[in-house]
Amino acid sequence: MMQKTHLSELVKEEKAREIFAKVFDLKTILALHRLADHGYFDFVEFVISTGKEAHVFRAQDHSGNYRAVKIYKTLTTDFKNMRSYIEGDLRFKEVKRDQRQLINQWTRKEFKNLEEFGRAGIRVPLPLAFNENILVMEFIGGENAAPTLRDKPPEDLGKTKAVVAKWMATMVEKAKLVHADLSEYNILNFEGQPVLIDCGQSVLTSHPKAKEFFERDVKNMANYFSKMGLKTSETEFLEQIRGFKKKP
Ligand SMILES: Nc1ncnc2c1ncn2[C@@H]1O[C@H](COP(=O)(O)OP(=O)(O)OP(=O)(O)O)[C@@H](O)[C@H]1O
Ligand SMILES: [Mg+2]
Repeated sequence: MMQKTHLSELVKEEKAREIFAKVFDLKTILALHRLADHGYFDFVEFVISTGKEAHVFRAQDHSGNYRAVKIYKTLTTDFKNMRSYIEGDLRFKEVKRDQRQLINQWTRKEFKNLEEFGRAGIRVPLPLAFNENILVMEFIGGENAAPTLRDKPPEDLGKTKAVVAKWMATMVEKAKLVHADLSEYNILNFEGQPVLIDCGQSVLTSHPKAKEFFERDVKNMANYFSKMGLKTSETEFLEQIRGFKKKP
């Protein structure tokens, strides 16, 4: 009973509250309280996205700044697939057996990946905190979340393509990471500037499948830009990426 009263203070919108009641367990709700107690946000406002593995909400801190709160579902059906992106990543020597722990590990991995990408100079949401299966980060958008490249192709496609090519060179060279789910669905168009999101699956370049993932990322992006009318091929895009790499 007390929990419920609390939740309605923490989650303002009824629709969002319904999601919490249906999708998230007590541990998730407790973690949400913990993050709010630490001041990472004051309350959750509304749901931005309901994905297969995670839901993303807009939240507000006590000064009225917006935050994005990504909460991984603990009963996701896809968790077997998650394993293969943690196994082989040297930062995570022990892959958790327990599903819930595995998802917590995944959340921590997304936090770290965002840190690494940001440090390397790739535009990603600034990660602020994580607890259990909840990640708090910078909110990308104005009132609403910025649309994806899929929903709102950038006006200057050529420039966006060059930025993405540079990201891909930087990722490998500086961050030593491969995004591993790069596509027009995981890049936001924030006032014309691309912002990379959804970094939970990103792996170290030493991961046994890193090359395969990198090639898939190249293919997805080359396909997107050519679909949008730019003359481009995988080979050409790869050349552009190489052009951004430092010469030895
Ligand atoms: N930092 C952010 N600021 C604003 N909106 C965000 C942010 N992060 C995510 N979003 C919104 O939530 C959507 C989904 O986010 P994301 O791609 O990270 O998760 P997902 O694809 O649902 O994850 P999964 O596929 O693992 O379930 C994005 O398309 C965007 O609309
Ligand atoms: Mg996504």
